[in-house]
Amino acid sequence: MDKKELVKEALAAREFAYTPYSHFSVGAALLCKSGKIFRGCNIESASYTPTNCAERTAFFKAVSEGEREFSAIAVVGGPSEAPPVDFCFPCGVCRQVIAEFCSRDFKIYIAKNTEEIKEYSLDDILPYAFTEKDLYK
Ligand code: THU
Repeated sequence: MDKKELVKEALAAREFAYTPYSHFSVGAALLCKSGKIFRGCNIESASYTPTNCAERTAFFKAVSEGEREFSAIAVVGGPSEAPPVDFCFPCGVCRQVIAEFCSRDFKIYIAKNTEEIKEYSLDDILPYAFTEKDLYK
């Protein structure tokens, strides 16, 4: 699975975003070490706080299906009703969820389309993460 293919999956996931309040649609595609891909979109709520980001939707779908090992995620986002015009980075809460399950070299592809893809590691976007190791020092 190359990064362009994973971005295509994220773009497809974005089509299902439920965003009546922000009108900002995000899609994610999470590649498991097993080779399976889980898609996720953001899902909003009239009371706002239950809103779930695309990245967390993908992680929670995967973990709830028994997956625990991941190699990469692709993320695309921008104003709904148009293709992404900018790069959309995972929010802080999603970075923390990624840190729960992924190693420091987990790959994060942030894309506008299949031709414009930025590549980061978890360590790049969440250095000094608070993790399990901090609890049991
Ligand atoms: N959102 C995501 O789904 N992922 C991100 O990386 C950033 C933000 C969603 C949450 C909300 O539905 C909308 O984008 C605006 O914040």
